Amino acid sequence: MPPGNEVIHEPVLLEETLAFLAVREGGAYLDCTAGTGGHMLAVARLAGPGGAVIGCDLDPAALEKAERRLEQASAEAPIAHWQLIRSSYTAVAELAGRLPGGKADGILFDLGCSSLQLEDPARGFSFSKDGPLDMRFDPDSGPSAADAVASLPEDELARIFRLYGGERRARAVARRIAAEREKAPITTTARLREIVESVTGRRTGRIAGATRVFQALRIYVNSELENVERAIPDAFDSLKEGGTLVIISFHSLEDRIVKHSFKRLEALGSGRILTRKPIVPDQAELRRNPRSRSAKLRAIRKVTP
Ligand SMILES: C[S@@+](CC[C@H](N)C(=O)[O-])C[C@H]1O[C@@H](n2cnc3c(N)ncnc32)[C@H](O)[C@@H]1O
Repeated sequence: MPPGNEVIHEPVLLEETLAFLAVREGGAYLDCTAGTGGHMLAVARLAGPGGAVIGCDLDPAALEKAERRLEQASAEAPIAHWQLIRSSYTAVAELAGRLPGGKADGILFDLGCSSLQLEDPARGFSFSKDGPLDMRFDPDSGPSAADAVASLPEDELARIFRLYGGERRARAVARRIAAEREKAPITTTARLREIVESVTGRRTGRIAGATRVFQALRIYVNSELENVERAIPDAFDSLKEGGTLVIISFHSLEDRIVKHSFKRLEALGSGRILTRKPIVPDQAELRRNPRSRSAKLRAIRKVTP
């Protein structure tokens, strides 16, 4: 693809993120979901040549793009010392340990999936393009969406579609999948879409019929809710006093986990919530980047108990 058409993920709530992270010159920051490096590069510029930024992601294709972007930016003007690491953010304590001083002034999680992943049919995240039914952030490890669809009991599929996708016809969709996989394995996004839509129809209200089932499978395949729940306390422990943890989520269950985890930290006296209500994109951002529409940002500062 020519460089001008390269898919770059537009960073969501960027100004708000930088403001809550209170990025300062010479500070040390961790971007737990570096993606194509949009937020990370902005942090590295503000932290300046005396600062340090570590970015991690599970996706090697995203890391490659981020690397090129940061290399190019640092050739143009001095930015913070930076490093990209292929890792799960569940290793957040170990990652922060690599920063100067071993703790962070600010940690960012920008959850969910990037435009790069959505728009590459080979990754199988999107039902609008045919491709292998994969959906793994780390394409080299763990069972894919096709494995889940082939092996999970019908009841478990229904539970996943209802819980993670809010799919009202979850049981009927699971039943249809169970019947179809007896005839032939379901290995492509187009085939799954066809099966789901044979139950839901092409649209339910304003959204495409397969949206909820695809979202549910992605969340399940990548253990997204379990990972974020596990990582928040470790990320908070990895902050310096006065440091901030910023989390952008795109799913109501994810946002609920963030909200309750922050409340627990505040009740312990070691955190002060900076966002009583979640911050959402303004009209200008929604117009520029419709994919930001379900984003919710929450931030908490570490304080002396
Ligand atoms: C919304 S994108 C981040 C975009 C990024 N902020 C930017 O500006 O380009 C979310 C990223 O999180 C990554 N991700 C998801 N789960 C992860 C995990 N457990 N550990 C590390 N990265 C993860 C995905 O691969 C994806 O690249």
